[in-house]
Amino acid sequence: MKIKGVIFDLDGVITDTAEYHYIAWKALGEKIGIPITRTFNEELKGVSRKDSLERILAFGNKEDAFSDEEKEALMAFKNEYYVKLIRDITPRDVLPGVLPFLKKLNQAGVKKAIASASKNATTILSSLELLNEFDYIVDAKEIRYSKPHPEVFLKALKAIDLKAEDCIGIEDAAAGVTAIQEAGMKAVAIGLDESLNHADIRLQSTEELPVLKL
Ligand code: BG6
Ligand code: MG
Repeated sequence: MKIKGVIFDLDGVITDTAEYHYIAWKALGEKIGIPITRTFNEELKGVSRKDSLERILAFGNKEDAFSDEEKEALMAFKNEYYVKLIRDITPRDVLPGVLPFLKKLNQAGVKKAIASASKNATTILSSLELLNEFDYIVDAKEIRYSKPHPEVFLKALKAIDLKAEDCIGIEDAAAGVTAIQEAGMKAVAIGLDESLNHADIRLQSTEELPVLKL
């Protein structure tokens, strides 16, 4: 297979913001009496802000404890906390291997897109000085269904005008790997967590990206 397009997740693939999401959710959890463990956090990766909050409340048996208005305030608290954490991101925060991989894709004429659930995606890409590096960046505000639903990847595929079988997707989250596969692409997983076992290709870290065969 000759790869014509690569669709990237952002958080945890291009830069380590997955860790900042965890820290911010943990802070919210402490505020509302729901301890958020790293194991549970795996279930939040790739999931939208609203759906993450719902999962957290269910995890803490507090599904009915907050009104819609209060939930909006909880999401705002988490996002403000998160935005402070990502304020100082610079191009040095691009994960190892990503820049050489992007260069390799450019040399091979492969199209590149970002399929992130994050409404902060363009801010982060801009801080990393990668905003103009991609042919298309999905606007998370236009996405209705969280990963593992394939919507965000299907939107990226359509925008770069390629068929799923000619593209691969890259993810660090179990839900994201499923979303890529549901969109009809082969999934490359970053990380060795066993929740990523269903990926088509497993890489230990982003450092291995440049060795992917195109
Ligand atoms: C995903 C992250 O990329 O974006 C999730 O993996 C996060 O952890 C989601 O909840 C939404 O991000 P944001 O920035 O819109 O709250
Ligand atoms: Mg991710």
